[in-house]
Amino acid sequence: MANTDAFPAMRCRMEYVCLGCGARYPADSLLYTCPLCGDVFLLENLDFAALKERPAASWRALFDNRAGSRATALRGVFRYYELMAPLLDEEDIVYLGEGATPVIEAAPALRAGVGLPFAYKNDGQNPSASFKDRGMACAFSYLKWLCRRNNWDEVLTVCASTGDTSASAALYAAYVGAPLKSVVLLPGGKVTPQQLSQPLGSGATVLELPGVFDDCMKVVEHLAENYRVALLNSKNSWRILGQESYAYETAQWYNWDVADLCLFVPVGNAGNITAIMSGFLKLRELGVITSLPRLFGVQSEHADPVYRYYAASPETRQWRPVRVRPSVAQAAMIGNPVSFPRVRALAARYISLGGEKAFQVVQVKEQQIMDAMLLANRHGHIACTQGGECLAGLQNALALGIIGRNERALLDATAHSLKFAGFQELYFTDGFGPEYGVTPDKTLANRPEALLCEEDRATLDDEAYTRRAARAMAARLRLSAK
Ligand code: F0G
Repeated sequence: MANTDAFPAMRCRMEYVCLGCGARYPADSLLYTCPLCGDVFLLENLDFAALKERPAASWRALFDNRAGSRATALRGVFRYYELMAPLLDEEDIVYLGEGATPVIEAAPALRAGVGLPFAYKNDGQNPSASFKDRGMACAFSYLKWLCRRNNWDEVLTVCASTGDTSASAALYAAYVGAPLKSVVLLPGGKVTPQQLSQPLGSGATVLELPGVFDDCMKVVEHLAENYRVALLNSKNSWRILGQESYAYETAQWYNWDVADLCLFVPVGNAGNITAIMSGFLKLRELGVITSLPRLFGVQSEHADPVYRYYAASPETRQWRPVRVRPSVAQAAMIGNPVSFPRVRALAARYISLGGEKAFQVVQVKEQQIMDAMLLANRHGHIACTQGGECLAGLQNALALGIIGRNERALLDATAHSLKFAGFQELYFTDGFGPEYGVTPDKTLANRPEALLCEEDRATLDDEAYTRRAARAMAARLRLSAK
């Protein structure tokens, strides 16, 4: 039996590869965009061919054995060390409990209603309650490695965020401590109170600007080009590597057979869908999986540039950012996703290997997102609005006939429902402004009901109070005595 706690001794050479002009740069400095042409990067393992020499069954056994590892560095997303950032050392790996998130089968009644077997992968069960922790664990481990090599005594990490990136970045920075310090830039009023409380609680410097995420993104891009800061948005390719773990875990959960699986992923800045495609492509190249799962990106019609691009015929396709409108899938409310060039490049490879139906993007309405989130959560799930968006995407894909009832689906619940409780509240109280276009189904509204009044508590002794409250409860529930 292999020693599952042993940190791998192998190291690989890695390079940034520009998706625009193909220029390559060594991985030992922090780069975000190509100095020559300004396009984004993906990281490439120059020794990937050597990984292919290991038989696929041996890779599967290695990852399966490591699932039981007690070595801190191998418990999270670095279970897949060799496929991610195999130049880091054990002492650099930051582990806060990220990854290994559960796949929860749809409740039987929900499955029956939707009409095909599906499950949620609850990425809201990561430490900062969103999938971003996968990427941050990798980006922060890399930063630790860099700080050690360069003896840096202070590094400011910055990010723009719709809420979750900032929560995650601030959490990891607080844990690592010196020399790292976290600064986050948020669009004022467009981050939920729960998301805002996270970087505040972690002690980050929290800055706000009027506008939307796309405005904040341009500011931190300008900052990263002109000042010495470490950018933690998914322009940072180390984030993408960490998020590839979603694909690895999914393949492993389905026993390395994802042939008839359809994944639904909400698309905002497009880092997540990039990472998921990249992860499955790597597994396929190693033979660890033999066919790719189908991948469906989902976008709200209020922020749908990627949908629009792929909805056009291949000859007429033109990339055009959109101006976003208020969306309940607020975390994905992005009109100019920085990772779009990565999506375009990887989707072309994905389609060439998996066929036209392997990668598609579906559009959903705001109303559908809210209805689907509430439907899921009334069946025992913990979907955020973006998780609701995935279910709405599945329902639309079924209605369009682009997914069959003989297939099965996996929906990405990218954050915990609690972060988006405010949207649930707006639904229950019919409080959405006209800009959202959401009309609540009143039968779903749920409110707390008061049983007794403050005066009862103040005037009755404990025993009488208990009896009166129990009687009030029995009356409310129409209970019959036994
Ligand atoms: N779901 C949630 C909960 C998110 O926070 C995000 C993105 C997405 C989906 C979209 O993923 O950007 O990789 O396409 N949130 C970023 C942030 C933009 O700043 O927290 P994506």
